[in-house]
Amino acid sequence: MDVTHAIDQLRQGQKPQWPSNVESLDFAQSLDESKTIPMTFRPEFIIPTKAQLQRKSLTDDAKTAALASSSDDEAIYFCGNSLGLQPKAVGEHLTAYLKTWGSIAVGGHFTSMEDSPLTPYQDMAAGCAEKMSKIVGASPSEIVAMNTLTINLHLMMAAFYKPTAKKHKIMCEWRPFPSDWYAIESQIEWHGLDPKKSMLLVEPDDGYLMTTESILKLIDENANELALIMLPGIQYYSGQLLDIPTITAHARKHDITIGWDLAHAAGNVELKLHDWDVDFACWCTYKYMNAGAGSIAGAFIHSKHGDNGHYKGLKGWYGHDKSSRFLMDNKFVPTPGAQGFQCSNPSIVDLTCLSGSLSVFEKTSIADLRSRSLLLTAYAEHLLSQIAARNIKDGSFPFEIITPTDPRFRGAQLSVLLPEDVFDDASAALVANGIVCDKRKPGIIRVAPVPMYNTFGDICRFMQIFEKAIWPKMQEQEQQPEQRGAVEARL
Ligand SMILES: Cc1ncc(COP(=O)(O)O)c(C=O)c1O
Repeated sequence: MDVTHAIDQLRQGQKPQWPSNVESLDFAQSLDESKTIPMTFRPEFIIPTKAQLQRKSLTDDAKTAALASSSDDEAIYFCGNSLGLQPKAVGEHLTAYLKTWGSIAVGGHFTSMEDSPLTPYQDMAAGCAEKMSKIVGASPSEIVAMNTLTINLHLMMAAFYKPTAKKHKIMCEWRPFPSDWYAIESQIEWHGLDPKKSMLLVEPDDGYLMTTESILKLIDENANELALIMLPGIQYYSGQLLDIPTITAHARKHDITIGWDLAHAAGNVELKLHDWDVDFACWCTYKYMNAGAGSIAGAFIHSKHGDNGHYKGLKGWYGHDKSSRFLMDNKFVPTPGAQGFQCSNPSIVDLTCLSGSLSVFEKTSIADLRSRSLLLTAYAEHLLSQIAARNIKDGSFPFEIITPTDPRFRGAQLSVLLPEDVFDDASAALVANGIVCDKRKPGIIRVAPVPMYNTFGDICRFMQIFEKAIWPKMQEQEQQPEQRGAVEARL
């Protein structure tokens, strides 16, 4: 298979031609060994074993210890859209931090240790911002590492949502992630307005998907009342990647401020936040940026808002320019750019984890990761379609992929909708076989092959287990040897 051509086709929204042995482990292995596909960084990550997933304590028992080092026992982890795996560098960076704190204590704020991967604490947020700027397509001064995602959404709305009697609406999607909904709702209430009148919802046109046309039309129809548009770069449930540049340009045409929640897009797809003229964007770093649960978040504020001296944010001492921050004279001098939006002294443990995880991104580019991701996800989609076609029952497919089929409008995640009566058994079977992926009732399994650490082999093995998992009746019959043979012949 010409994988370079296949990646080009995917970038243009076309489907590649897969060979007849596409479902074999040999083919998956040939892709994993290909020198033409951008490489995996799997060796830089800690991949849990199936035995470790069963742990109830931090210490291995004899059985877990024996299995823990075997790569045959590695779990299949497709949950990087929820929590990214641990980069080995994070442990190294944390050890350096603890040693620094233990040796020079308060001196760590301003001192650089010769053999440490860390900068002085005072420079760490700016260092992480610089590295994240390459991932989201911005200049370093447009990025800040601070707080957590929902808090940053609040801070951005405090700065950019300025409702008037006429222009008071915030446009958002029909079913945003609950925290986004609560943040928008409470910001509206905070201004003494009624969310029922001031939230304008984009409804899906087709099942779960929102078309660009309908979003643009809704903007046109409500332009006179819209104070702010806040949309997800990638919708968390369906995995749909919205057309950020087109929608942003349309908001611009109507002079409406637009912000994006990039929780599921940052570190996953290519972004050009500065060139697209986005006003602001926020993301967490524990999904595709692999910085650990609840770690410090990122935000983008376009240079036209942060650098022009018209400072808009809520103030705190860490937003004060670093050169005079410690004069303590209570005369606020904002740090130019997004970093002026900081309020508090940031958690250095958090920044240490983020700097460790970003050191892996420094070894590659988001363009290469995206190329690999396009192929991984298309491969997973193709294998799922083969399984669906083989398992038609009473004229219906056994599941539906609700994520867009056009690779330009999705990232690493495929959301698979199962019938409700199959969902629980299928989920249990996946867990029993050492597969970690995210399940959302009533019937969605989110499968996210992450280009940093997932392989084509992971996908192939997952599919073999998944096909058995959605067919519980067959599994019951598997107790009988002659029927087990029949099931295995199907795979
Ligand atoms: C789309 C989206 N928005 C908001 C959040 C909440 O993030 P946090 O708990 O870091 O504020 C999440 C968390 O997964 C999310 O996926």
